[in-house]
Amino acid sequence: MKEINVAVTGGAGQISYSLLPRLISGETFGKDMKVNLKLIEIPQVVEKLQGTIMELIDCGFKQTGSLIATADIVEGVENADWVLLVGSIPRGIVVDGKKIEERSDLLKINGGIFTNQGSTIGKHSKSDAKILVVGNPANTNAFIGKNTANNSSQQWFAMTALDANRAKAQLAEKAGVNISSVTNMTVWGNHSPTMYPDPYNARIDGISAVEVIKDLNWIENEYLPLVQQRGRSVIDARGASSAASAANAVIDTIQSVDNATEEGNWFSAAVQSDGSYETPEGLIFGFPLRSSGQGSVEIVQDIKLNDFAKSKIKITAAELLSEKEAVQDLLD
Ligand code: NAD
Ligand code: LMR
Repeated sequence: MKEINVAVTGGAGQISYSLLPRLISGETFGKDMKVNLKLIEIPQVVEKLQGTIMELIDCGFKQTGSLIATADIVEGVENADWVLLVGSIPRGIVVDGKKIEERSDLLKINGGIFTNQGSTIGKHSKSDAKILVVGNPANTNAFIGKNTANNSSQQWFAMTALDANRAKAQLAEKAGVNISSVTNMTVWGNHSPTMYPDPYNARIDGISAVEVIKDLNWIENEYLPLVQQRGRSVIDARGASSAASAANAVIDTIQSVDNATEEGNWFSAAVQSDGSYETPEGLIFGFPLRSSGQGSVEIVQDIKLNDFAKSKIKITAAELLSEKEAVQDLLD
């Protein structure tokens, strides 16, 4: 069997509990791939990972490789092919007597984690490592991590696949079709309430979702806010942020990056902007992407954007620029 090294921060958290078994079951990396997992936690929590490891062993997957728990980030990301940066604080919990409500509250708390992790990944993970940031604010954390990693052969992503899945599910339900009929979904910009889950370029059985649904009022006033605020709605309903669906989106992202994208389709993740679609260069921005399946991922060009789309993309770009300013001291 071939082998792959996968590092996961926040290994004892909610998302990881749904994610880890699926990483070693053959589902994510294929039936012929042995998966060596390094689970990384803060020192106060790392002991708990022994219980997680027992459960992973007890799943009995034949793709299970070595299972290591550590609080040492160097040991954790050493030689990693994929690094999944899940560890950070979610919204909805109380820190120092203050309830963390918005992503902006998370900027300072979580941003600091990603300077050290970024530079360690840059030095110690494989030169072609792929890094997926899940911990919020995901785009700006990835921006910090990529900048401090300073290793241009590694590829950094922030996760917008959960937003894309939410957006597809709502369009499918409204159109009365199976979700597999909905393709070409792009979540432009930030994984935050300013995101723009593009209904004009998303297709339902090959036709623009807006043309199929024929209800602009619903698109603009119900669908968009529903998708943009879905994270908050799950927190309110469940008392905790989404975990199973977030873990599922991690797996979708890995598969989308590692396998060639189907002809005519694309997938959604945030990568460093090269200025495409007049977005500010350097920001980690949600784009439509295609993968060659051989390690390279490209931003899909020449997608038509109407004035509505352009105005939405400007708003989310402005938010990312202000997040960048807010964490400037972490980058100096
Ligand atoms: P959780 O609180 O259940 O788990 C987070 C874990 O990270 C904890 O076990 C904590 O000890 C650990 N951790 C904190 N700092 C760490 C560090 N420096 N190194 C290693 N581990 C560290 O939270 P969760 O529900 O698993 O969510 C994790 C993050 O994912 C949150 O920031 C949440 O907002 C975010 N999230 C993102 C998306 C997305 O679509 N991008 C979706 C859902 C949740
Ligand atoms: C989500 O989208 O579910 C997560 O990012 C959690 C949150 O804070 O919204």
